[in-house]
Amino acid sequence: MSGAQRRSVILGTGSELPTKVITNQDLERMLETSDEWITVRTGIKQRRVLEEGKGNADMAYHAAVRAMADAGMEANDLDAIIMGTVTPDYLFPSSACVLEDMLGARKAFSFDVNAACAGFLNALAVADSFIRTGRARTALVLGSDALSRLLNWDDRSTCILFGDGAGAVVLGASENGDRGILSVLLRTDGSYAKTLYVPAGGSLRPANPETVQNNEHTITMNGKEVFKVAVRSMEEISRQALKEAGIDLEQVSLVIPHQANRRIIVALAERLGVPMEKVVVNVDKYGNTSAASVPVALDEARREGRIKPGDVVLLNAFGAGFAWGAAVVRF
Ligand code: COA
Repeated sequence: MSGAQRRSVILGTGSELPTKVITNQDLERMLETSDEWITVRTGIKQRRVLEEGKGNADMAYHAAVRAMADAGMEANDLDAIIMGTVTPDYLFPSSACVLEDMLGARKAFSFDVNAACAGFLNALAVADSFIRTGRARTALVLGSDALSRLLNWDDRSTCILFGDGAGAVVLGASENGDRGILSVLLRTDGSYAKTLYVPAGGSLRPANPETVQNNEHTITMNGKEVFKVAVRSMEEISRQALKEAGIDLEQVSLVIPHQANRRIIVALAERLGVPMEKVVVNVDKYGNTSAASVPVALDEARREGRIKPGDVVLLNAFGAGFAWGAAVVRF
C-alpha cells in the first residue's frame, strides 16, 4: 500500500448498554419458553432493555462521549455524525441530528443510515468515503438501536433474540497509509425484504387501529431463512474484503462478527477456518443489538486488551434487507 494514501483510522471507541436486564428466566415467566431452549438455539442468556421515557439518542450519547474521550476529541472537532439505526427517536429528524445537538457538535453534518443489523458497517463505509475523498477529516460513526421497541413480547420466536445498545467509533484521516480501514464492502439483496421486517408504521401501511391490533408494528421474521443466508453471505463478503485489503486470514488477529446468534457465529468461524479464540462473542450478555452489536463488541475487545497496535481485525454483519458487509481494519 502506498504510504501517501489517505485512510480512515479508528481513534477511539465507546459503548453504552442500558442497565435494565431481562434474563432467560424472566422470559420463562412471561412466555412459553425455557432458558435451555434459548441457550441451545441462540447462546443468549440475557439482554438489556432501554428504560421507558428514553430514546435511541440517549444511549448513543453515552457511547459517543466515551468514544470522543478515548480519541481525545471535542464535539466541535467532528465534521460528520453518521448513525446506523432502524429505531430512531422519531421517524424524522434523524437520531444523528438529535445527537448532534446533545453533543453540541456545531460544525458537523449528521444523518442516519438504515441497514438494520448491518447499519454500523454501512455507516462506517459512508464515513470512510467522506474521509478518503477529503470531504471530512473526522467522523463519529455509530450503531445504535433499541429493538425492544419493535418486539412483540408474545412472539417467542423473535422476542428472545434481541436487545438494546449503542456503540461508537471516532474516525480521523491519516496520511500514514498502513493503519486504518483497509477495505469495507457492502451488499444487499432486496428480494428478501419481507423475510425480516416490520410490516406496518411506514408509508405503505401507516398506523391505524387494525395494524396496532394485529401487532404489525413489530418484527416479523423467517428465522431459518435468515440463518442460512447470513452464514453464507458473511463468509463470502469477509473473504472478499480480505482479498481487497491484501490480507490473508492467517494475518487476522481477531474477528468481530455481528452478534445475532452463537450458532451463526460458530458456523461462520468454521467456514472461515478461524479458531473461536480469535472470535469475539458477547451475544450471551446482550442478545442481538442490531446495528450496535459490532461497535459494542469492538469497544469491549479493545478495553479487554484483545486488540494491540498493528493488529488486523475483521468486522462483519448481516441483517434485514437483506443487507450485509465486512471491513478489514489495521489498528
Ligand atoms: N422457546 C421454545 N420453543 C420455541 C421458541 C422459544 N423461544 N421459539 C420457537 N420455538 C419452537 C417452535 O415453535 C418450533 O416448535 P415446533 O417444532 O413444535 O413447531 C421449534 O421451537 C423449532 O422452531 P424453529 O423456528 O424451527 O427453530 P430454529 O432451530 O430455526 O431456531 C431461531 C429458531 C430463531 C433461533 C433460529 O432460526 C435463528 O437464530 N435464526 C436467525 C435469526 C436471526 O438471527 N435474526 C436476526 C438476524 S440479524
